[in-house]
Amino acid sequence: MSNTPELEKKFDARLEQNDFIEPKDWMPENYRKHLIRQISQHAHSEIVGMLPEGNWITRAPSLRAKMVLLAKVQDEGGHGLYLYTAAETLGTSRDELLDALHTGKAKYSSIFNYPTLTWADIGAIGWLVDGAAIMNQVMLQRTSYGPYSRAMVRICKEESFHQRQGYEIMCRLSFGTAEQKEMAQDALNRWWFPTMMMFGPPDKDSPNSEQAIKWRIKRETNDELRQKFVDRTVEQAEYLGLTIPDKNLKWNEAKKGYDFTEPDWSEFYNVIKGNGPCNKERLDARNQAHKNGEWVRAAAAAYAKKKKEAVAA
Ligand code: 3HC
Repeated sequence: MSNTPELEKKFDARLEQNDFIEPKDWMPENYRKHLIRQISQHAHSEIVGMLPEGNWITRAPSLRAKMVLLAKVQDEGGHGLYLYTAAETLGTSRDELLDALHTGKAKYSSIFNYPTLTWADIGAIGWLVDGAAIMNQVMLQRTSYGPYSRAMVRICKEESFHQRQGYEIMCRLSFGTAEQKEMAQDALNRWWFPTMMMFGPPDKDSPNSEQAIKWRIKRETNDELRQKFVDRTVEQAEYLGLTIPDKNLKWNEAKKGYDFTEPDWSEFYNVIKGNGPCNKERLDARNQAHKNGEWVRAAAAAYAKKKKEAVAA
């Protein structure tokens, strides 16, 4: 049904009442497109995010560490599936979504284009990257699109385990030998600013945020969430005895929050343009995995076809 002023008015009134918009409800075409863009990129981020950590499963320092990391990486795959399914309720297909990722047309979170050089990186990713993801995803539990909100509720429960296991690794290293503490500090130095980019560009430079807030897709802005993340994380770093690599970090009593240095946004735009340290490696890995999985998809389709024929006979 095409847009009419009455339909738009009813839709806006529903948002005002904090109603969830469901797949079968009328929605503005641009609302639907906005959601497909955001939810599919969120899903891509989960799937690509499995790669940097997956790189350490065979090199985890103990059987327990290996089991915890395996569980976390498997969770991320599940998060991707929930989110692809939520995106499909908006009338797109899995093939379309994956094709957009594999051809480099779709974005995924810039953070996953950085390399995991030491075991401390796995701790930093859980502590900082999943910590930032929780900040963003707890807010998205209140997003106006029903299937997305429900996926977020489910994902946030698992995300807390992800953040805790990362922080536990950082604790072991920070309270370990001098070399281990140095490794933890090195990881914090390399992951701090790229993590801050996860919340998106400054509000003044964000082409999507204003509309996302109007449609209650986002309930807090990029800058608000980034500020919350910094305020929450400084004390955690202090407890570890680690130094956040920002000499301008300073408590600002007036705003009841920390002043901090913005990430290098030219680096951000360069990475999302495809020129990050690992962009090519990540996309090659995803394309190879998709190719290797061809026989599984063919077998599943053949089985489904046979089942359908048997039911029809
Ligand atoms: N990496 C890559 N692209 C990014 C980005 C990032 N960190 N931040 C912003 N962008 C892109 C946006 O996609 C947009 O490009 P597009 O219009 O071509 O899609 C452009 O930069 C401008 O950014 P905006 O702020 O205007 O865009 P949004 O309103 O979409 O906000 C966002 C960006 C905050 C990432 C928002 O899309 C969002 O909240 N997405 C859902 C959460 C998400 O995707 N998180 C990614 C990490 S998931 C994760 O970490 C999993 C965990 O388990 C490890």
